[in-house]
Amino acid sequence: MNIHTIILAAGAGSRMKSNRAKVLQTIGGMSMLQRVLNKVEKLNSKATVVLGHQKESVLKHLNSISNNANTVIQEEQLGTADAVKSALSKTTAGEKVLVLYGDVPLVSSESLNTLIAEADQGFSILTTELDEPHGYGRVITDNANTALAIVEEKDATNTQRAIKEIFTGILCIDQELLIAGLQEITNENAAKEFYLTDLVKIISAKGIKIKPIKANNDEVRGANSKKELEALETILRDMNAEDLLEQGITLADKARTDVRGDVTAGSDCELDVNVILEGKIELGNNVSIGANNYLKNVVIGDNTRIEPFSHLCNAQVGANCNIGPYARLREGSVIEDAAKVGNFVETKKTILGKGAKANHFTYLGDAEIGDNTNIGAGTITCNYDGKNKHKTSVGEDSFIGTNSSLVAPVEIGKNAYVGAGSVITKDVPDNALAVGRGKQVIKEGYSKDKK
Ligand code: UD1
Ligand code: CA
Repeated sequence: MNIHTIILAAGAGSRMKSNRAKVLQTIGGMSMLQRVLNKVEKLNSKATVVLGHQKESVLKHLNSISNNANTVIQEEQLGTADAVKSALSKTTAGEKVLVLYGDVPLVSSESLNTLIAEADQGFSILTTELDEPHGYGRVITDNANTALAIVEEKDATNTQRAIKEIFTGILCIDQELLIAGLQEITNENAAKEFYLTDLVKIISAKGIKIKPIKANNDEVRGANSKKELEALETILRDMNAEDLLEQGITLADKARTDVRGDVTAGSDCELDVNVILEGKIELGNNVSIGANNYLKNVVIGDNTRIEPFSHLCNAQVGANCNIGPYARLREGSVIEDAAKVGNFVETKKTILGKGAKANHFTYLGDAEIGDNTNIGAGTITCNYDGKNKHKTSVGEDSFIGTNSSLVAPVEIGKNAYVGAGSVITKDVPDNALAVGRGKQVIKEGYSKDKK
């Protein structure tokens, strides 16, 4: 079945009190619109986004993220039916049209798949039951639980307002049936808007049975204000943490685990409190992540421990490593098996070889450090000359003394030594000792002579 998703994103969103368009507000570090598009991609559906308010910034955002969505402009926001109508030219006969809202980002793939399967009958709608249904369209059903109409709050009678089953805004319908139905929709209602929800009455009158598919409350929640946005953040955090528990990861506290991306993990991984996981995270077996860590796009091997307060971004860590506390691994850091990165060590575009150590106060940028080499406290690779970046390489089994500056480009061989406090500007051969510092001078009786 070919599905074409129309994403409504033309509304104003003034209650956000923000200069940023509503659908560009983020949850879990990603715009609501991108989250919806990711859902659509999972359905293998085409997508058309309806733009209106702040269309320039939304378009710019769409161009900056990877997606194949079409866009159309709804010039005036005349209602949800008008919004869908403006996207019709992108759809083709034989498709099922799925309507999603750009500000309802958490709907589950399961619910959407059930909705789409049910649309085999022609038309299906996604509903939910709310204790406080105020403001939403109420679903009117017959004894056989077939939907007969949706009545908007403003147009509802008191009896209808007591109905707790509400329309989520999400529906799926045959393209041809949609076109026929839209032609019959008028704006003769309390809001003087073209209501997409009128389709239910129009199409059920044609004898088509419309079955409401019930979703759970949380997944169909939208965000119109910062308060609602924060509520979505909490729901997302909870959903993602549940997912980690399902995968068998041990969490110290579900409410203090922030998963904002995709996590895969082997067995027996543990997360202490206040860990933020963004982007794509791959953990091996028995990985332990201490409290207050931030990880984005990171791969970590078996039995590795990340101590508290570390920051890892676009980095790769091998097995049996120890990182932190207070380590910073930046883009292009590759920490090989059994290596150790201690406190206040920053790495960037650097390979730290197997069993190598950089335990304290060090910057390694554009460097390649051989296996089992020890980088002393305070070692700095001087990789930048004010214009260009240069490479430092140190062979295996070498020892860089404390407080050394390695002025790149420079090569230090295997099994070589650098004396503490050296400024190394020339290559050091294998097995050599290099000392590059002022000689110590002793002036006997110096202080006595002064007096
Ligand atoms: C709509 C439904 C209501 C449902 C509720 C769920 C209608 C008439 N009513 O009401 O039954 O319970 O959603 O949240 O559909 N939009 C456009 N162009 C427009 C108008 C709206 O793109 O001309 C977009 C908005 O940006 C928003 C979505 O469509 O993302 C819904 O519009 P909104 O005005 O919020 O509809 P509701 O009154 O909440
Ligand atoms: Ca709304």
